[in-house]
Amino acid sequence: MCILNQQYKYTVSLESRSLITGLLFLSLSLATHVTAKETVTYEKLAPILAEKCIMCHSGNNAAAELRLDSYDSLLKGSAKGSIVKAGDPAASELLRRLKGTSQPRMPMTGPPFLSDSQIALFEDWITNGMKRGAVTKLEKPAKQQPLRPKPGEPVSWQHVAPIFATRCAKCHTDGGLMGNAPEDYRLTSYTATLATGDRVRVVPGQPKASELLRRIRGQAKPRMPFDGPPYLTDDEIVLIEDWIAQGSRDTDGQAAPVPTGARVRLHGTLGTDWQLDGLHLDVRSGTRIDKSPRPGDYVQVRGRLDSSGSIIVERLRRR
Ligand code: HEC
Ligand code: HEC
Repeated sequence: MCILNQQYKYTVSLESRSLITGLLFLSLSLATHVTAKETVTYEKLAPILAEKCIMCHSGNNAAAELRLDSYDSLLKGSAKGSIVKAGDPAASELLRRLKGTSQPRMPMTGPPFLSDSQIALFEDWITNGMKRGAVTKLEKPAKQQPLRPKPGEPVSWQHVAPIFATRCAKCHTDGGLMGNAPEDYRLTSYTATLATGDRVRVVPGQPKASELLRRIRGQAKPRMPFDGPPYLTDDEIVLIEDWIAQGSRDTDGQAAPVPTGARVRLHGTLGTDWQLDGLHLDVRSGTRIDKSPRPGDYVQVRGRLDSSGSIIVERLRRR
C-alpha cells in the first residue's frame, strides 16, 4: 500500500509539472470567476440597458413610466412600483420580464431577447443586493436619434416598435391606462400588433386597408394616440406606412403573410365609385348599405380580405 502510494506520487511529480501549473491556473481563474459573479453592479448592466432598453425606458415618455437610464430610477421602478426585490430574482418583475414569465417579455422589440448569460447577470445582481458600481447614470439615451433603417434597408419591426411602445402601449396593453386593452387590441409585441383574431388592424402590404394607419393619420376617428395632441410626427407616420407597405416585416426582415379571409373594420371618408380615402371597396349585391352614405360622408366599413387583397364589403354604414 505504502509502496504503491509512493510510486504514484513519484510518477506524478515526474510526469507533469505542467499539469500542476494547469490546476493552479484553473483554480485561480475559478476564483476570479466567482469574484466577478459576486460583484455584478449596475455598471456591468449599463451597456445592456443602453443598447436594449433605454430607447423606450428613458425620458418623460418612458414606457410604463419606468426609466432604466440611472441606478436610482431603476430602483424607483415603474408606475406600478418597484421592479426589483433584493435577494429575490423570482419575485422581481425585472427578471420575470427578461425571462418571459411575465408578459409582454422585454425587450419589447424582441425576439431576439437577451442571451442567457446576459439574463444571468441581472439575476446575480438582484441576488447580491443590487450594488451600484462606479457608473450610475447612462450617457444621453439613443432616444435622441431614433432607430431608422439605413438607405436601401427595409423598414422592420425594430424601427417601429419604439413608437408603439412609447406612444401606444400604455393603453393598448392589459392593465394599462384604460384597464383592459381598448378594442381588445394590444400593441405590445409584433405578434399582437398583427394579430388576426377578431379582425386585423394592420394588413401587410396594404397601408390604406390598415385601420392602424387610418387612426394615426386621423382619417379614422378618434385619432390615435388617444391622448394626443401631440400625435405622431409626419416622419413617424411615414415610417409606419412604409413598414406596412413593405409587408410589415419582423425583426429578421421577414415579411408577414397576408391574412386572407380576415375581417376588417375601417373608418374614413367615402369617395366616388366606392372608395374610402383612395382604397377601392368591393361592394357587391350582397353588401348591406345603411343610412344612404354619399361621397364625402364619414363611414364605417366592415368586410373581409379576399385572396387578391381587396376588401369585400359586407356592411357600409354612414356614421
Ligand atoms: C420597444 C420599447 C421597449 C423596449 C426596447 C423595452 N421595453 Fe420594457 N416595457 C415597454 C412597455 C410598452 C412596457 C409596458 C407594457 C406592459 O407591461 O404591458 C414595458 C414594461 C417593462 C417592465 C414592467 C414594468 C412594470 O412594473 O410592469 C419592465 C420591468 C421592463 N419593461 C423592462 C425592460 C428591460 C429591462 C428592457 C431591456 C432589456 C426593456 N424593458 C426594453 C417597452 C419597452
Ligand atoms: C390614452 C390611451 C390610448 C393611447 C395612448 C392609444 N390608444 Fe388607440 N385606442 C384607445 C381607445 C380608447 C380606442 C377606442 C376608441 C374608439 O374607437 O372609440 C383605441 C382604438 C385604437 C384602434 C382601433 C382598433 C380597432 O379594433 O379598430 C387602433 C388601430 C389604435 N387605437 C391604435 C393606436 C396606436 C397606433 C396608438 C399609438 C400611436 C394608440 N392607439 C394609442 C386608446 C389609446
